Amino acid sequence: MDKAVDLARMFAKTMSEKCVPQNGDYIKDGLIYCGKCHTPTECRTVFHGEEIIFPTWCECARRANEERERESAEAQRAVRAPELRHLSMMSGKLSECTFEGADKDGENSRSMTICERYAEKFPKMLEDNRGLLLFGGVGTGKTFAAACIANALLERNYSAVMVSLVTLIDGADEIIRRINDIDLLILDDLGAERSTDYGFERIYAVCDARYRSGKPVIYTSNLPLETFKHSEDIRCARIYDRVLERCYPVEFRGTSIRKREAWV
Ligand SMILES: Nc1ncnc2c1ncn2[C@@H]1O[C@H](COP(=O)(O)OP(=O)(O)OP(=O)(O)O)[C@@H](O)[C@H]1O
Ligand SMILES: [Mg+2]
Ligand SMILES: [Zn+2]
Repeated sequence: MDKAVDLARMFAKTMSEKCVPQNGDYIKDGLIYCGKCHTPTECRTVFHGEEIIFPTWCECARRANEERERESAEAQRAVRAPELRHLSMMSGKLSECTFEGADKDGENSRSMTICERYAEKFPKMLEDNRGLLLFGGVGTGKTFAAACIANALLERNYSAVMVSLVTLIDGADEIIRRINDIDLLILDDLGAERSTDYGFERIYAVCDARYRSGKPVIYTSNLPLETFKHSEDIRCARIYDRVLERCYPVEFRGTSIRKREAWV
C-alpha cells in the first residue's frame, strides 16, 4: 500500500485518540456523531484513492471555539483600548469628536462623507498608504473631521496619533521613534508653524520618516491647494511634494463654525 496513505492513517488515528468521546455520542453510517448537536465529529476524506476518516469539529464544538476566540479578542481589545487612547495624544474635546455626533448637513457634508468613508475603508487605505489633505479656511471643521477619523479607528483598535505641527517641532523625536508603529498619523495645521529653518527641518524629518514607513498621514491645513502645488520655497516644496503624492485633497468651506458658535 501507498506509504503516504499509511502515514495519513496513522496521523488520523493519533488525532482521534486525542478526542475523548463524550457521553451520548453515537455511530451512524460509520462515523461518530455528537450526542448534543447531532452533527458528525469525523469526516471521510479520499487520499491517494483511499478513504481515510479524520476527526473534525461537530457544530457545537466549532461554535464553542468561535466563542472562545471572540472572548479572547475582546479581552485583548479591552486591555489595549486605554493604552491606544493614551498614545493617541488626543484629550479633552478632541477625544469626543465622532461622526455620530457631527453635523453632516452643512456645506461640508460631502467632505465629511469622504472622511467617514476613509475611516470605514481604513484597512485598504493603510495597505495602499493613502492619506488625506483636509484644507480650507479657519474654523471650518478640519481638525474636527480628523479627530472623528482618529476616534473611529481607536474604537476599532487601530493606533491613531494626532499632533499639532506647531507643537510637534519640540516632540518630533518621540514621534519619529514610533513612526513605524502608528497606523494613522494625523499632523494638524501644516503651514501654521513658525517658518524657521529649524522648524522646517523638524517637520521635514517627521514627514519624510513617515513617507518612508509607507503608512498613511492625514494633514490639515489652512493653506490653499495651489500653495501645495506651487511653492517657491524649497523647504516647503519638499514637504508638500510628499503630501500631494500620498494624500487626497478634501476641501472644507464656509464661515468659521467657531464664530457661528460664539453668536448663538
Ligand atoms: N461637522 C461638525 N459638527 C459639529 N461640530 C463641528 C463640525 N465641524 C467643526 N465643528 C466644531 O467647530 C469648531 C471649529 O472646528 P475645527 O477646530 O475643526 O476647525 P479647523 O478647520 O480645524 O480650524 P483651524 O483652521 O483654525 O484649525 C470646533 O469647535 C468643532 O468642534
Ligand atoms: Mg484646526
Ligand atoms: Zn456537538
